[in-house]
Amino acid sequence: MHQSWHLFVKKPVQTDLYRKTGLAKTLTAFSLTTMGIGAIVGSGIFITPGLIAAKYAGPGVMFSFMIAVVVCALAALCYSEFSSTIPLAGSAYTYVYAVFGEFAAWLLGWALISEYLFAVSSVAVSWSSYFQNLLRGFGVTLPSFWRAASGTAGVQGGGIDIIALGITLIVAGLLSQGIRESAKVNNVMVVVKILVILLFIGIAIFYVRPANYHPLLPFGVNGVFKGAAVAFYAYIGFDAVSTASEEVKNPKRNMPIGIIASLLVAAVLYIGLAAVLVGVVPYSRLNVADPVALALNLIHQDWAAGVVSFGAIVGMTTVLIVMSYGGTRLLFAISRDGLLPRPLMRLNTKTQVPVVNTWIFGGIASVFAAVIPIDKIAELVNIGTLSAFAMVSLGIVFLRRDARFKNLDTAFKVPGYPWLPIISFLACLYLMSQLQRFTWEAFGIWVVIGLLVYGGYGYHHSRVRSELVNR
Ligand code: ALA
Repeated sequence: MHQSWHLFVKKPVQTDLYRKTGLAKTLTAFSLTTMGIGAIVGSGIFITPGLIAAKYAGPGVMFSFMIAVVVCALAALCYSEFSSTIPLAGSAYTYVYAVFGEFAAWLLGWALISEYLFAVSSVAVSWSSYFQNLLRGFGVTLPSFWRAASGTAGVQGGGIDIIALGITLIVAGLLSQGIRESAKVNNVMVVVKILVILLFIGIAIFYVRPANYHPLLPFGVNGVFKGAAVAFYAYIGFDAVSTASEEVKNPKRNMPIGIIASLLVAAVLYIGLAAVLVGVVPYSRLNVADPVALALNLIHQDWAAGVVSFGAIVGMTTVLIVMSYGGTRLLFAISRDGLLPRPLMRLNTKTQVPVVNTWIFGGIASVFAAVIPIDKIAELVNIGTLSAFAMVSLGIVFLRRDARFKNLDTAFKVPGYPWLPIISFLACLYLMSQLQRFTWEAFGIWVVIGLLVYGGYGYHHSRVRSELVNR
């Protein structure tokens, strides 16, 4: 193989094998939907409606949530096609490795690492706010230095968010013992999350003041679109559903139903909650990390604030576990391909868990959680995820043209090809363009670090490339 093509070497795929995997096909559209809601609904619903209303969209925050779900649904269809065509571990990273080759796969994998890392950090910060709110109910208040990262809106004299740091490390500890959530626990958590959101809407709706909806769009339509780029965060997680495609009965039908239904349920809950929240609290006061609890405290429903805080903590814990799990398995998949150092794929002989990897991931996420203000972390999650979704959407066009995947009749196909994947690609780019300058700068630094890691390590240790080149 010519030297200059090394960067574009593609992962070999034996599509016949995919059709005959040994995993039991047990998952239905319903179980996929609950799984999706479990992974999607977390801190996004308990923090972002407040941030978006205060900073970008005002009471028009519900429109931001509507736009974001449309973009997610388009990307979700593309994910469905990929995952039913190439159902292998590593999710989007593996798809892109097979279709675009190694260099693009590395960039995407690196972007996905940022998605998982920052998602865990941001959910941990939100977890901490709600936990502290609960503690205050029992009369316990932390010294201000330990309450939040310095620069967090609404917190004077912040320094380090010690609780966010602690919970991230606790989750890493649990995962390193091999603890995963089971489907049953997940179902219970999903019910708790939905009930808590409905409880909030059911109580607060009686305190809505129509005056709070005027002006509806204080920052204009532009603000609504900027808000959509942030609201996108709340829907992240449906991509986790696509990784289960090997175990789905009739994936061609059930995978898109499961992904779209979980997105729709989340959208209805989010839009309902956001609409009520801005009706109860003037939007300008909502730039806090626990806006739902704030609203209930304002209307003197302190008992409900306690219940909601508890429910939020339970709900966010599952997202923390799923996203940490996903992040460590992504590092594992990349390291197995030789693009990251080998210790990241080393398994504990007893538990079969990548322990070193889990602690490295948890350690980095905990530091980010401790020192970066929540609004900044949430945007960092989005830029990484949107760039991954953009590549997956564009990837569909290349997937369809790839002779290796032509005859797979088991796969779900995106309707409206090629327009839908192209629109999805452009919509992701558009939302990325709406993110703050800080986010772009931080992401730029992240990508440069990624290029250095690839140039300094991955390029020389890639297993796929060395196998093909030495053949
Ligand atoms: N969608 C996930 C959440 O809202 C990141 O917690």
